This record gives sequence, C-alpha cells and structure tokens, in this order.
Amino acid sequence: MDEPHNSLSLAPTPGPSLGREGGIRADFPGLANNWRYLDTGATAQKPQVVIDALARAMGAEYATVHRGVYARSANMTLAFEAARRKVAKFIGATDEREIVFTRGATEAINLVAHSWGNQLKAGDRILLSVLEHHSNIVPWQLLRDRTGVEIDVCPLTEDGRIDLDAAEKMLTPAHKLVAFAHISNVLGSVLDAKRAANMAHAVGAKLLLDGCQAVPHMAVDVAALDCDFYVFSAHKLYGPTGIGALWARYDILDAMPPWHGGGAMIDRVSFERTTYAPPPARFEAGTPAIVEVIALAAAIDYVEAIGLDVIHAHEQALVRETRDALRRMNSIRLFGPDDAAGIVSFEVEGVHPHDVGTILDEENVAIRAGHHCAQPLMDHLGVAATARASFGIYNDVEDVAALVRGLERVKRIFG
Ligand SMILES: Cc1ncc(COP(=O)(O)O)c(C=O)c1O
Repeated sequence: MDEPHNSLSLAPTPGPSLGREGGIRADFPGLANNWRYLDTGATAQKPQVVIDALARAMGAEYATVHRGVYARSANMTLAFEAARRKVAKFIGATDEREIVFTRGATEAINLVAHSWGNQLKAGDRILLSVLEHHSNIVPWQLLRDRTGVEIDVCPLTEDGRIDLDAAEKMLTPAHKLVAFAHISNVLGSVLDAKRAANMAHAVGAKLLLDGCQAVPHMAVDVAALDCDFYVFSAHKLYGPTGIGALWARYDILDAMPPWHGGGAMIDRVSFERTTYAPPPARFEAGTPAIVEVIALAAAIDYVEAIGLDVIHAHEQALVRETRDALRRMNSIRLFGPDDAAGIVSFEVEGVHPHDVGTILDEENVAIRAGHHCAQPLMDHLGVAATARASFGIYNDVEDVAALVRGLERVKRIFG
C-alpha cells in the first residue's frame, strides 16, 4: 500500500490518488467515462486493488482453506485467517474468533435471529425502529412467527433520528434485544450507539447494530460502542458481494447453537451424535467464500490507507454541499438531518422519484429511486419512494454539480 493520505479534496482534480494519476476516481474502473455515481449506499464501486486481489485469489493463488495438506492451501488458509484478524481489528474487536463470515449483513442478522433468537419465548420483546432496512425487520418477524416474541417499534425524531428518549420509555425487562441501524440507509442519520447500548443493557437486553451504512462512512469500534452484535456487508465497503461479517462477543457466540449444518462446523460426526466446532467455525458451514474474504481484506487496506476519519469528513462536506444546493432550488423536499453521513434523500415536488432517476440517468448521473428496502419508513414519511444520492470515497463537487444540473432539467421538463 502507498502512504496514507491525511486529506481528501472535494475538488475533482487532482485529488489524492493512492499512487495513481487522476485522483481517487482513477482507482475505480467502474467510474470510467465521467460517470457520476451517487448510489454507493446500494453498493460501492471497487478499486483496482480489490479487483486485483480477487483475481489473484481466484487465479494464481487459488486453493481451498482449512483442509489441504499442500503448501498452496496452507498459504490460502493463512491469508483467509489473516483477513479475519483484519476485519476484527477494523471494527475494534480484540478477538478474531468473534468474527463470523456470512454472505452479508442480511445473512448475519438471520443468523442471530435463528441461533440466538430461537431461545426467546412468548412474552419476550424486541425493539426495532421505524427506519430499519427490511433485513433488520423481516428476520425478527420470522422469529416472532416461530416463538411468539413481540416486536415494538421506536419512533423517530422530527429530523429523522431514532428517538432514544422514546426508546428509553419503551424499554422494559421483557425486552431481550434492541436492533437498530447504526446509520440509516435512507436518512443518513447516525445513531448514538453508546447511549442505545446503555439503555438496552439497563433492562438486560442485548444491542444489535446494523452497521451496513456505517462501516464505509466512519470509524467503528465495537468495544467503545459496547454493543453485543454488529453486522455489515463487504460490498458497501468497496469489497465484493457475497461476503460480510457478524461480530458478537465470544461468550455470546459460544452459547449459541449452530444454525446451518454441514462440513467445517463440526467437531465429530457420527450417526448417533454430532458435536460442533467452537465459534466462529460453528457458524461457517461448508466451503467459505474464500476469494471474497481475501478481497474484503484488500478493501479494508484500501480504506484504511485513506482513513475513515478523512472519508467521514469528506462525505459530510459533500452532504452539506448537496443539501445547501437542493435547498436553494426550492420545490425539493429534503429528508433526514443536516449532519447525515454520506446520504441525501429527497423528493422533487410533483415528480415521481423514478422519473427523477431516469432523467438523471440520461445526464450520466446514477441515483437510487425507490423505497430503499425501508417501506415502513416510507409510510412514516408519507411517500411511496424517495430519490437518494449517496456518496463514497470517489465523489467530489463535480458529482454534486452534475446532480444539480440534472435536477434543474427535471424541473424544466415537469414545469
Ligand atoms: C442499513 C442496511 N441494512 C442492511 C442492508 C442489507 O445488506 P445486504 O443486502 O448486503 O445483506 C442494507 C443494504 O442496502 C442496508 O443499507
């Protein structure tokens, strides 16, 4: 890796480059042809170093892990377990055995709901919030169907944060879990996670944080946050699809039963009785996503070389710039707080977000239009959908300018 940068420029050129001509953008082949990509909240573009790591792991270095007695497999196992250590360190975990690789955040939440959640019973309660992504709602509803637990829903403040004052009043000793988004994928609002942890623990509940939108935008330290479960997906962190992680404290994981059965998760198998491996292997049945794990480690190297604090400040500046510009345009309704992390949701009055997205696409600007897998939040906002611009490492003021030009055209077309 090249020397770390200590500042990112909002300006389009030259910008820091991680050793390449043309600034950060040049690291991302997916951004060729001046494409104005404002959909990183859905999935991030990949830097060449991640693509290269993936290709090497899939090609010259490829072998299985944990089984082979030959050198290539032993090397791959070392790289795979080094990646686990890297993920642990990246989110502030001290023990790499606390990192379970999953297909992504969705699978990680389902894992918790099945394995940890199945011990819950009728009368127990779970607290979610209005702004949750469907992947932090539906697994709990499926658990409710299995066990009879009740789900409570915490309201939001005026400016679109999870209302922790309300949560505090709602929580009772019957609550066994609080499951909140660390950052909303629609509003960009950042949870006061430490306060949420204190409140959950005060009634004996665990706190699960959905960190999908947090890990790409800000430094995360699970120890400092004092949460019990943390989940994220690699593809939003400039890594590949099909891989993500669950972090939980070792004592919690160790008390959890397996949820998928098969190879790699066992200690000893006989037809009479099977015993299981300790965590994390207990929760990683089957051949893992070897190359994706290696590429996730490369993605972490990439963002760490720039620095999460630098990225956070850069994206907040872009959010401010965008919100100010959209406010000046009138007839645009902004959602979420001004200090949103990397995400600006909005509505052009009288124009369906899909039309907004289609016209912007003609202008080479990619935004997301839809319910963002957060239909209860759409109901709360009184809209069917929103338009969402979301930022990443590679965005700059040119992207904001292109968005504003595109929106002016939307307004001209729709009068
Ligand atoms: C806040 C949040 N939670 C969960 C998810 C689900 O992530 P994945 O589809 O990668 O499992 C997303 C993805 O959009 C998200 O933004």
